[in-house]
Amino acid sequence: MVLKAELHCHIEGAALPTLVESQAKKYGVDVSAFIHDGAYHWHDFSSFLAAYDAAANLFRSEEDYAALAETYLTGLASEGAVYSEFFTSPDHAERAGLSPQAYTEGLAQGIARAKAKTGIEGRIVVTGVRHFGPAAVEKAARFAATCGHPLVTGFGMAGDERSGHPRDFVRAFDIAREAGLGITVHAGEFGGADSVEAALDHFSPARIGHGVRAVEKPDLVRRIAEEGVVLEVCPVSNVVLGVFPGFAHHPFPQLYAAGCRLTLNSDDPPHFHTGIGREYAVASEHFGLDETALTAVTRTALEAAFVDEETRRALLLRLAAAEAARAVAE
Ligand code: ADE
Ligand code: ZN
Repeated sequence: MVLKAELHCHIEGAALPTLVESQAKKYGVDVSAFIHDGAYHWHDFSSFLAAYDAAANLFRSEEDYAALAETYLTGLASEGAVYSEFFTSPDHAERAGLSPQAYTEGLAQGIARAKAKTGIEGRIVVTGVRHFGPAAVEKAARFAATCGHPLVTGFGMAGDERSGHPRDFVRAFDIAREAGLGITVHAGEFGGADSVEAALDHFSPARIGHGVRAVEKPDLVRRIAEEGVVLEVCPVSNVVLGVFPGFAHHPFPQLYAAGCRLTLNSDDPPHFHTGIGREYAVASEHFGLDETALTAVTRTALEAAFVDEETRRALLLRLAAAEAARAVAE
């Protein structure tokens, strides 16, 4: 099995419908409006975000979040992942009645439990939600910058990219950058190439969440390749949410051929009937990546991970050893 690494997954969006149903039972909430027959149901990006918010609202204690992270990471490890960075949202925790500190501590406990069981390394990228506005995003950045938790290594912004202009969020990203956090931002999903360009100009991110609609502007694709900005590509999410009509129309192969540094990610896996294994399988079946190319995708993710250099070196060695063993077996 090719070893994998995931840089782009929203922890609340990783909650399995069965887990959300058991949380709903615990808290006496009816979830039949968005979960039935063991699956999430929504019909467009806005109703997806509403289902996401409603599911997130059912995780209310430190232990709820520990169990969520542990379940997600042990599942990821069983698909061959050695590293995961997931997005957290202190705003969602506060809306569910939990402090950002307790939320982060719970998730960190889940990371530790999954690591003890499977060896998977995990880190946390705190995000602000764009459509909650600049003040909320700045508050999330300030929390990320001051919480002092060793597993919080990055800051990003998710949510509806069509809301607000990047200039409104510059302060938030400056706060995070000055605290030494890695920077990523969602752009080029529901916004076009101009949105990606504005994100690069205003935030100087090391990585872009999605970024795939950069393909609409060849000069921008060249810039992304030249500057080595890493794209957190989520192919199944893009097709399920209708960003592209099918895998045959997905720009992964074009961006790859242009020399962009690409990774593969599941975004909100059970919402999109995906997982890291399926993303790699899609890249193999639809984008023509063989096992050597898929391993290179994992290497790119580890190189771009917001992790200390000692851990990065150990992960890269583990990947090289697995690749050498695979070459011998062939
Ligand atoms: N939050 C959770 N999933 C998201 C996505 N695909 N785009 C933007 N924000 C999100
Ligand atoms: Zn995302």
